[in-house]
Amino acid sequence: MDKYIINGGEKLFGSIEIQSAKNTVLPLLAASILTDEPVRIRGVPKINDVESMLLILSEVGCKITRKKDSLVIDSSNAVSHEIPTRLTKELRSSVFMLGPLLSRFRRAKISYPGGCDIGLRPIDLHLSGLQRLGVEIAERDGYIHCETQKLLGAEILLDFPSVGATENIILAAVKADGITVIRNAAKEPEIIDLQHFLNAMGAKVCGAGGGTVAIEGVKRLHGVDFVPIGDRIEAGTYLIAAASCGGEIETQGVPPENIAALLHKLRENGCKIYTKNDKIVLTSNGALRAVNIVETMPFPGFPTDLQAQYTALCTTAKGSTLVVENLFETRYRYAAELKRMGADVTVRGRTAFVRGVERLHGACVTAGDLRGGAALVLAALKAEGQSSVVELSYIDRGYDDFEGKLRRLGAKIRRVRI
Ligand code: UD1
Repeated sequence: MDKYIINGGEKLFGSIEIQSAKNTVLPLLAASILTDEPVRIRGVPKINDVESMLLILSEVGCKITRKKDSLVIDSSNAVSHEIPTRLTKELRSSVFMLGPLLSRFRRAKISYPGGCDIGLRPIDLHLSGLQRLGVEIAERDGYIHCETQKLLGAEILLDFPSVGATENIILAAVKADGITVIRNAAKEPEIIDLQHFLNAMGAKVCGAGGGTVAIEGVKRLHGVDFVPIGDRIEAGTYLIAAASCGGEIETQGVPPENIAALLHKLRENGCKIYTKNDKIVLTSNGALRAVNIVETMPFPGFPTDLQAQYTALCTTAKGSTLVVENLFETRYRYAAELKRMGADVTVRGRTAFVRGVERLHGACVTAGDLRGGAALVLAALKAEGQSSVVELSYIDRGYDDFEGKLRRLGAKIRRVRI
């Protein structure tokens, strides 16, 4: 087990190359079994969630080759439609395998997916969408058993624009008979990237990003060589770090429109932001003013995956901020740890009320989930004195070389074995 030792108080300066988006790479890996030709995905981050997905693909019978940061998935010998509990419990995205497995084998059996414990996270929308495509679903022995004679295109209206459900239905529909239309579909940039990827394999998907996605089923898909979009959550995390600590950093690889909601808030906080193409430059003197309210929403609203990091920023902004989490029920577990560093945060249900304090002080804190863990690191970077952060396996789920990238910006952070 490792921990971070962080000496706070350094300003951050420099440039960061952003990794391919975790939330694109995971569904693309699942999609790789839609063809029996090799699929190459470039710029893949070394993170635990990707490793978990690769174990799932190996279990299905795929051959995986790694060349630097590229992955080649060859599923020509894929044989299994089953994913056992030991593999799904680590990763909620294991549910993305349902659509591709059904497309390939007409059958799928997976145990209920796990992942970070940030609320209920049901999969009812995934399952009802698949049922609309002609899949019969039974739940027994902790497993979801899915079977279909033939996937048939259908009209599907999602009660909520779920990212995962939208992606899973697209993945099941690309080789179905006929046309599928998903209304109230999620609009996240990762959905658009999935559309680009599938179309590059020969699929006929359109409308992603606009709320209605239409998929005309095709007979077969072919191999592809693809570079996914940059990770807007990773970029947002470093931008928040620099805003909070002060300094000037540049992120490369994420179009500003993909994190416009965050940039808008950071400007209100008093940061100067300049953007050009895929470059974002942020300058901050570290003395921020609080914004009144920040509320998480589906894209293009403020992303829930940046809520914790942004709340860490609010702890030392001048004034008070009301944070409202609309996506997940229990996404404030990190708040108790922030309090150990001197933050003034009151959590009631889905809201957190943050009164800015002059400064935080170092403490030993424990990560409880991926983004909450990142928030603790950001708080420690600006706290007075030394902090340690334990349970890094959560942070390793989504950040490739977090400490190395922060160190190159001037942060005093070390990873040590406990
Ligand atoms: C994806 C992201 C995750 C992000 C989230 C919201 C990936 C791999 N993960 O997760 O990082 O935090 O989007 O932006 O892309 N819901 C249901 N029934 C369902 C599905 C979802 O009620 O069948 C609810 C969830 O409980 C939650 C909301 O819908 O309240 C949003 O979930 P969803 O958009 O599906 O998130 P994920 O795809 O799990």
